[in-house]
Amino acid sequence: MARIAVFGLGYVGITTALGFAELGHSIVGFDVSASKVESLNLGLIPIYEEGLLDSLKSSTDQNLIEFTLDPKAALKGADFVFLCVPTPMKVGGSADLTYVDTALSLIAENLEHQTVIVLKSTLPLGTGNSIKDMFTNLRNPMAYNPEFLREGTALADFRNPDRIIIGADDTNTAAAVAEIYKTIDSPVLLTGFGEAELIKYASNAFLAVKISFINEIAHLAEATKVNISHVSKGIGLDKRIGDKFLNPGPGWGGSCFPKDSRELVTTAANVGVRLGILEAAIAGNEEVKDRIVAHAHNALGSNLSGKRIAVWGLTFKAKTDDIRDSPSVDVIRRLQAAGANVIAFDPVVKSMSIQGVDLAESALGACRGSDLLILMTEWPEFVEENANEVAQSMRNRNLIDTRRILDHSSWERHFKNFIVLGGVS
Ligand code: UGA
Repeated sequence: MARIAVFGLGYVGITTALGFAELGHSIVGFDVSASKVESLNLGLIPIYEEGLLDSLKSSTDQNLIEFTLDPKAALKGADFVFLCVPTPMKVGGSADLTYVDTALSLIAENLEHQTVIVLKSTLPLGTGNSIKDMFTNLRNPMAYNPEFLREGTALADFRNPDRIIIGADDTNTAAAVAEIYKTIDSPVLLTGFGEAELIKYASNAFLAVKISFINEIAHLAEATKVNISHVSKGIGLDKRIGDKFLNPGPGWGGSCFPKDSRELVTTAANVGVRLGILEAAIAGNEEVKDRIVAHAHNALGSNLSGKRIAVWGLTFKAKTDDIRDSPSVDVIRRLQAAGANVIAFDPVVKSMSIQGVDLAESALGACRGSDLLILMTEWPEFVEENANEVAQSMRNRNLIDTRRILDHSSWERHFKNFIVLGGVS
C-alpha cells in the first residue's frame, strides 16, 4: 500500500484523500486553511458532499488518514503527492494557476526523496510543460491524473469511475500511478501529459455542448408543443448518443463547465484555432437564462419594479451547497436589474452575498406575497410542497418550473400561469 500526501482539501482533495484511504492507502491531507484541517481532524467535513462523513469516520478509525498544516510532515515518506488545489477563472477566460504555483513551490521546498508528483487540478493545455520549465529543481517524476468527480456524487464517482486517465512523459511513472488504483475495476488509459490535459477539457466541453444542444431542442419543443421529455428519452436510447446529460434545464453552471469551456476557447484562440461549436454552446447557455427572464416578463410585464419574485433553489444543481456560476444566481441578477425584488429559498444555502436578495426560511415562506415563483434547482423537497398552499400564499399566481420537476397535472390548476421551461410533458 502506498503513502500518499494530498495537497488541497476542497471537494476534489477530500474525496481523493478519502477514496484512496478506502483502497487501503495511508493518507496525509495538507491544506493552508487551519479551520479546514482542524475540522477534518475532528471528524467533520467542511463541505456539503454525500458520503464523505461516514468515509472519514471509517478511515480515521483504521488510522489510515490524518490532516496537517505542515507541508513537510505531509510529504515525509510520501510515495506520491496529489495536487488538488483549485484553478479558478481569471477575467478574460483563462485559468488562474496561482494556487497550483504556490502549492508546487511548497512541495519543491519540502520534498525529501523520489515522491511522484501527481497533478489532479484541472490544468489548461500545456501547463504540464510550463510547470516542468518553472520548477526545474523538481526532478521528481510527474504525472497528470485528471478528476472526473461530480459535486454531489464525488465519492461514488471516485469508487466507480468510467475511466482512469494517467498522463506522463514516461510509462514507468504512469504505471506507478495506475498501481494505486489497481483494486478499482475501470479502464485505465495511459497517455502523454498533453493528451490527459485535453481529455479533461474536452470531456467537460462535450457534456456542456450536449446540454446546450438539448436545451436548444427543448426551446423548439416548447415553441411547437412537442413533449421534450419523450424526445430526450428517444434520443438517449440510441447507444451512440447515450441517455445521460440530456435533461433540459436552466443552463449548465458550477465551478467546472463554465470555467473550463471558456478556458478551452481561450487556449484554442491563442494557437489560432476557433472552437465554434463550443462557442455556440456557451452562447446558448446564456440564451436559456434570457428565456427564463423573458417568461418572467411575459407573466409580469416589461417593468418588474415593485414585483416580488420568489426563487426556489440557489445552488447550480441539487445535492451541493455550491453557488459558483449558478444559473439561479445569474437569473436573480437579471431580474434585479429589471427592478424586481427577489426572495430566495434553498435547502442548504443559508447565507449569500448577492446584494438585495432576502433569504426565506422555508420554500413556502419565500412565496408569501410574491407575484411569481421560479423553481431554479431540482431539490427533491420542492416536489413535496403543497401546490394549493403555495398558490394561496402568493399575491399573483405565476410559476416557472425551469427543471421540469413539478407534476404539471396537480400544480397547473392552482396557477394563473404555469410555465414549464421546454414545454409541458
Ligand atoms: C462536472 C463533470 O460532470 C465532472 O465529470 C467533472 O469532474 C467536474 O465537472 C469537474 O470538472 O470538476 P459538476 O460540475 O459537479 O461536474 O456537475 P455536473 O453534474 O456535470 O453538472 C453540471 C451542470 O450541468 C449543472 O448545472 C447541471 O444542472 C447541468 N446539467 C447536467 C443539466 O442541465 N442537464 C443534464 O442533463 C445534466
